[in-house]
Amino acid sequence: MRKIIFTVIIAGVVIFGNSSKAQQATDPAVEAKISNLMKQMTLEEKIGMIHGNSSFTSAGVSRLGIPELTTSDGPHGVRPEHGRDWSLDNKGNDSSTYLPVGITLASTWNPKLGYAFGAVLGSEAKFRGKDVILGPGINILRTPLNGRNFEYMSEDPYLISKLVVGYIKGVQDQGISACVKHFIANNQEVKRDGINVEMSERALREIYLPGFKAAVLEGGVNTVMGAYNKFRGQYCTYNDYLVNKILKGEWGFSGLMMSDWGAIHTTKDALLGGADLEMGSDIGTPPLKFSNFYFASPALKMVQSGEMAESVIDDKVRRILRVMFKTNMINASRTPGAYATSDHSAVAKKVAEEGIILLKNKGNVLPLQKNTIKTIAVIGANANRDNAMGGGSSQVRPKYEVTPLEGIRACVVNQAGITFSQGFAIAKDAKADSKMIAEAVENAKNSQVAIVFGGWVHGYDYSKWSDNAYDAEGADKPDMTMPFGQDELISAVIDANPNTIVVLFGGGAMDITKWEGKAKAILQVGYPGLEGGNALAEILFGDVNPSGKLTFSWPKTLSDAPAHKIGEYPGDGVTVRYKDDIFVGYRYFDTYKVKPQFAFGHGLSYTNFKYGKLNTSVKNGIVMVNVAVTNTGSKSGAEVVQLYVKDVKSTVVRPEKELKGFEKVFLNAGETKNITFELKADAFSFFDEKQMKFVQEPGKFEIIAASSSSDIRSKKTVKL
Ligand code: BGC
Repeated sequence: MRKIIFTVIIAGVVIFGNSSKAQQATDPAVEAKISNLMKQMTLEEKIGMIHGNSSFTSAGVSRLGIPELTTSDGPHGVRPEHGRDWSLDNKGNDSSTYLPVGITLASTWNPKLGYAFGAVLGSEAKFRGKDVILGPGINILRTPLNGRNFEYMSEDPYLISKLVVGYIKGVQDQGISACVKHFIANNQEVKRDGINVEMSERALREIYLPGFKAAVLEGGVNTVMGAYNKFRGQYCTYNDYLVNKILKGEWGFSGLMMSDWGAIHTTKDALLGGADLEMGSDIGTPPLKFSNFYFASPALKMVQSGEMAESVIDDKVRRILRVMFKTNMINASRTPGAYATSDHSAVAKKVAEEGIILLKNKGNVLPLQKNTIKTIAVIGANANRDNAMGGGSSQVRPKYEVTPLEGIRACVVNQAGITFSQGFAIAKDAKADSKMIAEAVENAKNSQVAIVFGGWVHGYDYSKWSDNAYDAEGADKPDMTMPFGQDELISAVIDANPNTIVVLFGGGAMDITKWEGKAKAILQVGYPGLEGGNALAEILFGDVNPSGKLTFSWPKTLSDAPAHKIGEYPGDGVTVRYKDDIFVGYRYFDTYKVKPQFAFGHGLSYTNFKYGKLNTSVKNGIVMVNVAVTNTGSKSGAEVVQLYVKDVKSTVVRPEKELKGFEKVFLNAGETKNITFELKADAFSFFDEKQMKFVQEPGKFEIIAASSSSDIRSKKTVKL
């Protein structure tokens, strides 16, 4: 039984052929070195390299100077050491920087921060002796219930594509491999081990693949991890269509395709289906017998008996060696990397500052004025909770983590004016607690302002991830209702003190309809990393002007979410049919005219931005767009200018509009900047299932500059 899992850039060059033939380039000199090494290897040595030989490594060939390949989670920090056999080391020397999670990183809408984030990860992975960092996770946020939404980035493939490239380059410029995961459609944790995902070719090409394609062709990612689930009846990790035809065929991926931990279930099909490295199968009861892996003795026997060509194994070994050469693992040395430095913390803080989203600010209750606010009621168990070790395989053990309560204390001179009440208990099946609510209400009444810290939590017990967990691997949220009686608490606190600010943690939307109408201020923070408490306090007190924007549409209720309303979730236990098709997130809300609680791309600032007239010019089918944006307020701040394209008339049904460009622009008070965008054919095309390719139909297109998908500021029609 599988153990419970806690679990160059090929010279940076990407050669594009025609639309269906692209290629990650390879270096002939390196290929020759690989051939030379492989000539000297026995079959047993080759087989040793294509399966795990401990919880996170696969074997090398020491007599030829080939080291083990060492991997580590994960997407927002280097994971604590789990030893060779999953026994947590607990030596206390395995700290790393706890960066904000994927959804918070993406909320910055700032690809430069993606790079800085990746560079921190790469540097720390190198310091900790890792070769591959198991991130970024980029599965589409299809349903608000997915337990791993916090690790992922967005519902929108364009936004993901822009952020993932920076992240990967940041990691790989440190000489470490990134691993983009989970390829593909691991959009729910319910039955993740084998649920069969059925979707149209168009949904695959327009929604679920583009992030991975950008990771391979623009990011030059060295490794890809397959998803646990099946796609059209075959496991994703060795799905002939996905791996052989698309990833390695159409995109010319020359790196290594590894399994998720325990995602391989057979030998022959998996070898032929394109998986290169089997990890985490841990077949049998402990002590773990790595020789029992499907790609170990069974694969060896298959080649020896002639049932499997050795060339199939050779291709996998070549890919692994290629990654090793690119990351200076053979006959080369690496720079040391750095670990838990103040510079790394500063990057984490910057990401948190730009990733925290101000959703509502009625009557400008925020920012709080330090000199006039003397009494604050801090309420809610999320105010003084550490999150780094939560959530599953992405756990991190930082040297410190600043909670919101600590962050607020650091900003306020009069400590005596701060009260803290827990408000709700994070405990198995905990319901509203009238005593705790009464205490919170009392404190709120006696303070000028109340700040409630609630939302999702990773789980009440980190060692049992999926037990009563909301943002965790192996489990989805049961519904969109806030747990532990938080609705009652928040309602009562707002009634007691109208100057209440609600701060929501977690990987995505929750149903806040019971109290949203009477709340003055709401913030969404995701999980903001080890400096999150400081970043949050600085936003609350106005030292930092918020600039995060939602990367997903926030439905009012679960029944409004497209995966639930027009799609299927979580399927019938065997199959889940993505009947919502391309209508994921705002593509659904906008097209079907359903009003979300908060729109995709929404996020407020303490200043205001005015958009000028949108100008366009067309040359050789390329549309140049120009729009001036002015900060009309009195504070400097940043706006994410979003560019959407609407196909006015089409032969197929298309979304109302789609994101095709964005830029985060920093403006001092009164300052104006001109923002330009270049829209090429891919901004106007859809995937035509008859021709099996992206096509652009002639006609009119609306070019829309917006502050969110529902806040359109300026638009113009072009004819192409
Ligand atoms: C997760 C992966 C992770 C792996 C190794 C799996 O359970 O799905 O994301 O990288 O474990 O810990």
